[in-house]
Order: sequence, then structure tokens, then C-alpha cells
Amino acid sequence: MAETPFTAVAKTGDIPAGEGRTFEVAGRLVAVFFDGSGYSAIDDLCPHMGASLASGPLCDGVVTCPWHAWRFRLADGAWCDNPKLKVAVFETRVVDDTIEVRVAPPPAVEIPSRHDD
Ligand code: FES
Repeated sequence: MAETPFTAVAKTGDIPAGEGRTFEVAGRLVAVFFDGSGYSAIDDLCPHMGASLASGPLCDGVVTCPWHAWRFRLADGAWCDNPKLKVAVFETRVVDDTIEVRVAPPPAVEIPSRHDD
């Protein structure tokens, strides 16, 4: 099986330190953050009610959801209040002045067949 390729999303300098931005990659919304020294990427959709995590404040490697303040660690995507719940984390790299992320397509959703009996 072919390895998922990296996708260019922005130039260095496009994301101010301490902030995030949302990009659509491989059919998913991805939140890319810059902490002042490096880049991190997680699933942009908060698992609580779907807010964009990229618009939440970032502090000490933790982003706080702007709607109801759930907090997620960028290192592993864990919800700080219950680390068993995680959002997806994506690999990032910088090539020259371009920020790239490696994002696999979302898992296929199986829709159960309808039974009328
Ligand atoms: S939508 Fe994120 S905490 Fe509610």
C-alpha cells in the first residue's frame, strides 16, 4: 500500500505564533498550529459539538476549544480531562518555506442496510 503523501498547506509566516489555521486536506479539515518554534496538526473538528479547534487559543501545547473550553494536547490529540478521548494527530514538516502535513483520507463510513422486517 502506498504511503500517504505530504500536502503543502501554507508558507512559514502565514500562521502567527500561538495561533492555528484550518486547511482542507484529503477531504478532512485540519487545524495547523504554530507555537513559535514548530508546527502541529490535529483534526479541526471538536468532538463535542464540532467547533473549529484552529480558532481556539494555544498555550503550552494545549488548544482550548472556543465554544465550551474542552482542551486538547497537540502532541497526541488527547482531551486533557479524559485522555482516552483523542482527536487525530497528523505529521507535519517544513520544506524550504512551505508547511506540509500528511493526512490520510477519513475512514470509510459504513451505512447499515435497511431492514424492514
Ligand atoms: S464544541 Fe468544543 S467544547 Fe463544545
